[in-house]
Amino acid sequence: MTSDPAAFEPATSETGAFDVDAVRAHFPALATGVAHFDGPGGTQAPRLVGEAIASTLTGPLSNRGSSSESERNADAAVAEFRQAAADLLNADPRGIVYGRSATQLTYDFSRHLSRGWKIGDEIVVTRLDHDSNIRPWVQAAERAGAVVRWVGFNPSTGELSADAVGAVLSERTRLVAVTAASNLIGTRPPLAAIARLVHEVGALFYVDGVHYTAHASVDLASMGADFFTCSPYKFLGPHCAVLAAAPALLESIMPDKLLPSTNAVPERFEFGTLPYETMAGVTAAVDFLAWLGESGSSDAPRATDAVDAERRARLVASSIAVEAYENELRAALEVGLAGMLGVTVHSRAPERTPTLLVTFEGRDPAHAARYLAERDILAPADSFYALEASRWLGLGDHGGLRVGLAPYNTRAEVDRLLTALADFTRV
Ligand SMILES: Cc1ncc(COP(=O)(O)O)c(C=O)c1O
Repeated sequence: MTSDPAAFEPATSETGAFDVDAVRAHFPALATGVAHFDGPGGTQAPRLVGEAIASTLTGPLSNRGSSSESERNADAAVAEFRQAAADLLNADPRGIVYGRSATQLTYDFSRHLSRGWKIGDEIVVTRLDHDSNIRPWVQAAERAGAVVRWVGFNPSTGELSADAVGAVLSERTRLVAVTAASNLIGTRPPLAAIARLVHEVGALFYVDGVHYTAHASVDLASMGADFFTCSPYKFLGPHCAVLAAAPALLESIMPDKLLPSTNAVPERFEFGTLPYETMAGVTAAVDFLAWLGESGSSDAPRATDAVDAERRARLVASSIAVEAYENELRAALEVGLAGMLGVTVHSRAPERTPTLLVTFEGRDPAHAARYLAERDILAPADSFYALEASRWLGLGDHGGLRVGLAPYNTRAEVDRLLTALADFTRV
């Protein structure tokens, strides 16, 4: 290991807006001492999120309505969830759809949207995406008789270019599905440039933001996404998902639905009774994210009140602070890994999240993951459902060891990981 600790002193963690120790104090799970580099699979959650879920569930809580406190509590949980998600994504709260998972939402919308597809229409998917933003579209296209066009990425650089997407577009293209960031190698494709090309041919742009949203600020309009999905359990929240779209676009889509259930948007896309307590957990997670950029101050995280128009600005400031902090840790990781013999890092795109895919010459990455787990360091090995990407990289279905950074990781944990991996390469 050749990392030089002096070269990577954290610039923002103690003195500036972001204070990792103050952040960590909110996570009961971190008291175990386990170093969690498994955030891309699901982050740990702060106590406040659990408390919001528990207090909403234990109510009083009834079905939505306005005639009792318990009904109003349910109504408020839904309204607050939509506003929180809208602030996070810079979207319209009337265009926020709740889902159990991004996979479920994408399957649902693939069925809704493909009703209008005809034989000869074309759908575009990429080799970089998680399977949840590939297979629902491929299967819907098969049912409709539509043609699937595949876009590859450069396996040497990890980049997926707008030109590569543009090359497969035509006036027959109905929908283009692209990830905002790869959960395997972190690549962030140039979404705005891709969106321009997609819209030039009159197609819809469906963006998977599940990995991206944990690491960078989202602005639906500037990304050019017609649909954007994310999953709060990847950014300190509970296990569920969100789809954002313009309300007018949602108005133009008609799902199958029950006769007595509302025809209103976005509710007509949310089947059955909503999980009010989980929604409250999402709101608490968004409030916690908004606080991260102020964690260096003495103020505690707070719930956003109804008249707080500042949360969006606080979320943007937080994401800048978190990105800077995670990039410092990433740089230390990369220097350390570069000095290890027989270690290949596949995460190379200039624009990417702090998620590194690592393989070891002649060694099974699963052995490295086990070796680390025995030392209380969690960084699993797999292709993590980014099967096409793993195969495209020449890694078959097994992928590699994935080291993902979260706002609660520390420089000391990174050093522990580097020391353990250096030992692994020598045994
Ligand atoms: C990039 C990406 N897209 C989609 C998903 C699927 O998300 P969900 O579990 O909410 O269906 C994941 C989960 O790991 C992911 O990382």
